[in-house]
Amino acid sequence: MNKYIFKFAISLSFLILGCSRDTNLNSSGIDVYSKVDSIMSLMTLKEKVGQMTMYSGDWDKTGPVVSSNNIKFIEEGSLGAMFNVYSAKKTKELQKIAIEKTRLGIPLLFGYDVIHGFKTIFPINLGHAASWDLEDIQKSARIAASEATSEGLHWTFAPMLDIGRDPRWGRVSEGSGEDVFLTSQIAKAYVNGFQGEDLSSNNTLIACAKHFVGYGAALAGRDYNTVNMGQDQLRNVYLPPFKAAVDAGVESFMTAFNELNGVPSTGNKFIFRDILRDEWGFRGFVVTDYTAINELIPHGFALDEQHATEIAIKAGVDLDMMSGANRLYLEELVNNGKVDISLVDDACKRILLTKFKLGLFDDPFKYSNVQREKETIYKSEHLDSARKSAAMSSVLLKNQNNSLPLNKKETIALIGPLVKDKNNIIGNWAAAGDRNGKAISIYEGIKTHLDDSNILYSKGCNIKSDDKSGFSEAISIAKKADKIVLVMGEDYHMSGEAASRTNIKIPKIQNKLIKTLRKEFPTKKIILILMNGRPLDLSEEDSFADAILEVWFPGTSGGLGVADVLFGVYNPSGKLPITFPRSIGQVPIYYNVKNTGRPISTENPSEDYKSNYIDSPNTPLYSFGHGLSYTKFEYSDISLSSNSIGVSDILSVSVNISNSGNYDGHEIAQLYVHDKVGSLTRPVKELKGFKKIFLKKGESKTVKFQITVEDLKFFNGKEYTVEAGEFDIAIAGTSDISFTNSFKLKP
Ligand code: NOJ
Repeated sequence: MNKYIFKFAISLSFLILGCSRDTNLNSSGIDVYSKVDSIMSLMTLKEKVGQMTMYSGDWDKTGPVVSSNNIKFIEEGSLGAMFNVYSAKKTKELQKIAIEKTRLGIPLLFGYDVIHGFKTIFPINLGHAASWDLEDIQKSARIAASEATSEGLHWTFAPMLDIGRDPRWGRVSEGSGEDVFLTSQIAKAYVNGFQGEDLSSNNTLIACAKHFVGYGAALAGRDYNTVNMGQDQLRNVYLPPFKAAVDAGVESFMTAFNELNGVPSTGNKFIFRDILRDEWGFRGFVVTDYTAINELIPHGFALDEQHATEIAIKAGVDLDMMSGANRLYLEELVNNGKVDISLVDDACKRILLTKFKLGLFDDPFKYSNVQREKETIYKSEHLDSARKSAAMSSVLLKNQNNSLPLNKKETIALIGPLVKDKNNIIGNWAAAGDRNGKAISIYEGIKTHLDDSNILYSKGCNIKSDDKSGFSEAISIAKKADKIVLVMGEDYHMSGEAASRTNIKIPKIQNKLIKTLRKEFPTKKIILILMNGRPLDLSEEDSFADAILEVWFPGTSGGLGVADVLFGVYNPSGKLPITFPRSIGQVPIYYNVKNTGRPISTENPSEDYKSNYIDSPNTPLYSFGHGLSYTKFEYSDISLSSNSIGVSDILSVSVNISNSGNYDGHEIAQLYVHDKVGSLTRPVKELKGFKKIFLKKGESKTVKFQITVEDLKFFNGKEYTVEAGEFDIAIAGTSDISFTNSFKLKP
């Protein structure tokens, strides 16, 4: 008998401690709560605290390095989880130590930042959100889970559900943009994709909703910065995506680095105990962000590490990532009566429960399978899927005079520092993605559509340096080409964690190159392909380029997916999940704002003493929901099943969409509602539904949505409720709309 099976058999023979539980049976039909209770009854306080401790392996660094002695800690039962370690071989080796060398043989939990793919990298999350394709996003998470689990991982620190309304904040790249409804739908897609149907099968990962909560509202867009917000914003904007993740069954939550209204997240009892556990009934476990317990000290919330440890566990934190605080202080805090043992028991129980659900007590090595690893990583169907996602995530921001799609017969001058790039193209937080050649560059993608003789290439400049020496070559090849295609943008370090910017333009040297080319060739078509992890201020580029295609960081198969769009193999359908401002001065800018008591009028937007700027329009350069196609979609005949509904009625809304252009294509129809009067003011418009449809050229379809009171509910300062009154409603291919229809909700 294996040692782990033997140890576990002993634990099962123990009396089952009473605890309230719902029925949760594992594959062998045994109540996992009973199993957890049995093993807990064997554990010392030190072993329980060990389960509440996680350290990073030495494979990857995602924060300040904290010295640790992992092997020794595993052997003495002081470590319950590890992250930044992967591969079937390595995870098996470490698991073996936990199983064979510790007293109880409790398996380790292996976590990792599998954010937008594991080895096969999909577009960055903000980009994938631009596809508005929930099925495709869920599929990408399923693929990521199957690759990651084949390398021994059990847990991903994803999805990130922070609403991002400030493009200065580099982490907007990791989220799904500015909107509550879209982010909430995507939250469910990621959780379902990662966790699958059965957590105990060897290809499902547990997901982690992060960072709870308000992290995206960091003051001035500076990472980790202070957050202050009232109940209206907290409950109506920042909490709903997390609630959606709980409803989808997410197994873990991560604290945030920020403070919220004066209380750092990692010490915030209100959000973790009152809201997450008591109000929402969340039963999984809570992990801190990296060294976040220790960070309670510089926050000015804890006197020292021991105090910080006490605050964190009382607030509802179960697992300590990297602080080492639980390991060093928790036993003493229990022994001197400052922390009740029941808090430790509850936390430990929750972590063990997850390990049982994953099937780790049945077979701790089942995820670390060299054969499966070989068969799964970079499977061709994964790479094909990533190619489609890249195409679906591309957003055509501008296309003057049908500059795109490209024609197979024309000669193009391909210019820019990101044309041949195989490193930045997979973006930030690219997990175990390869930066040394595996990714397909835009250049390689284009080569699959055009003969070599039709492609002229010049790098032109680097991403950031001031060197203009490549400009003359760029000019000389542009002279010979029919069209100029530029591939430009940020490098991958310019977004993601700790990558806030005060200037959100493309780096100066690249801007100079576009300007120079436009000056040299006033009438030649310039097509700008952009890679970046945030909305950029493109006001100048917009005036120089005929077409702009936003491709974000499109991933391992990015070059192929983007080329499919450039040549019309995939007609672009992406829509912006976040607003692109005209200038940094407009930030934060988002579509679902409140009206103010002095709103501007469309007829006279610069009228005095109205809520406007004296030096800029209020409107953004590109709105949330904006995205062009090579064809033209026309919306007509919006019709409502009734102009007045009761609280238990369903309102059906339909619209006719016709494809009146020259290409087949997908359109994302968006439903917006405006609650005209509320006991707390309501946004001028709110997305409440969307549908992705396909129309052949010349085809028309009626698209239907249904609205219930659930869709109209909001937190009014006291409770979640719906208030009787009038609502405007519209369906369009962008958020840039004016309402022409309305309905009444009867009391
Ligand atoms: C810090 C980041 O904030 C978090 O998102 C990530 O999961 C952890 N580091 C672990 O790498």
